[in-house]
Amino acid sequence: MSHSPSTTPVLTIDGPSGSGKGTIAALVAERLGWHILDSGALYRLSGYSAIKKNIDFSDIEELVNNTLNMSVRFESGRIWLDDEDVSLEIRTESAGNNASKVAAIPEIRSCLLQWQRDYVKAPGLVADGRDMGTVVFPEADIKIFLDASAEVRAERRYKQLIEKGLSANLAHLVEEIRERDDRDRNRTVAPLCAADDAVVIDSSDMAIESVKKQVLEVVKLRLPDLVIA
Ligand code: C5P
Repeated sequence: MSHSPSTTPVLTIDGPSGSGKGTIAALVAERLGWHILDSGALYRLSGYSAIKKNIDFSDIEELVNNTLNMSVRFESGRIWLDDEDVSLEIRTESAGNNASKVAAIPEIRSCLLQWQRDYVKAPGLVADGRDMGTVVFPEADIKIFLDASAEVRAERRYKQLIEKGLSANLAHLVEEIRERDDRDRNRTVAPLCAADDAVVIDSSDMAIESVKKQVLEVVKLRLPDLVIA
């Protein structure tokens, strides 16, 4: 499916689980005053909703129907699915794993494609995920691929989960992150990889502020006429 370029600028941030994409996307979007698309949340919602409704992951038709009929609202940092606040429920590691299972199904990826593209709105969009720069927004003005070692990512995830009051075990997290990475990188459709024209940033030894600064420098370089207030 082709994607017609729009004049609204798009910044894509792709990378593996726990690389800090979500945090950086939120900080950069806030700084630029742009909209944000957390594409992983859509896959998480698709998997979560299917589990709630006892839909078998091998029943593709039912999975797609269910995904297309989800009523989703992103509001003031909360995520609502069919009028239920699921902000916490979809962030667990098991919800992440279910997301990566449904995300490997080509029919689910295609049914979410236009949904994601509809997020492009002036003055700009920051889109974070796995295939934002390669498949969903191939003509994006600025592409970042954010990486970090599996151990560092597991530690970050551990802290995030504990801060949210969810239970976590570091050793299990490293294993789960490796398993999810493997599935995301090796699936046949839209595998996790850096776009040829992406700027790769390894954030293993970087503080969040430095990563944000580096991303904003890339934005200024690619969009020299953009006025950042
Ligand atoms: O980014 P997050 O960890 O919330 O994503 C959950 C899962 O959704 C990922 O492990 C991946 O399998 C899938 N995903 C994807 N493509 C995206 C975003 C997320 O396949 N653009």
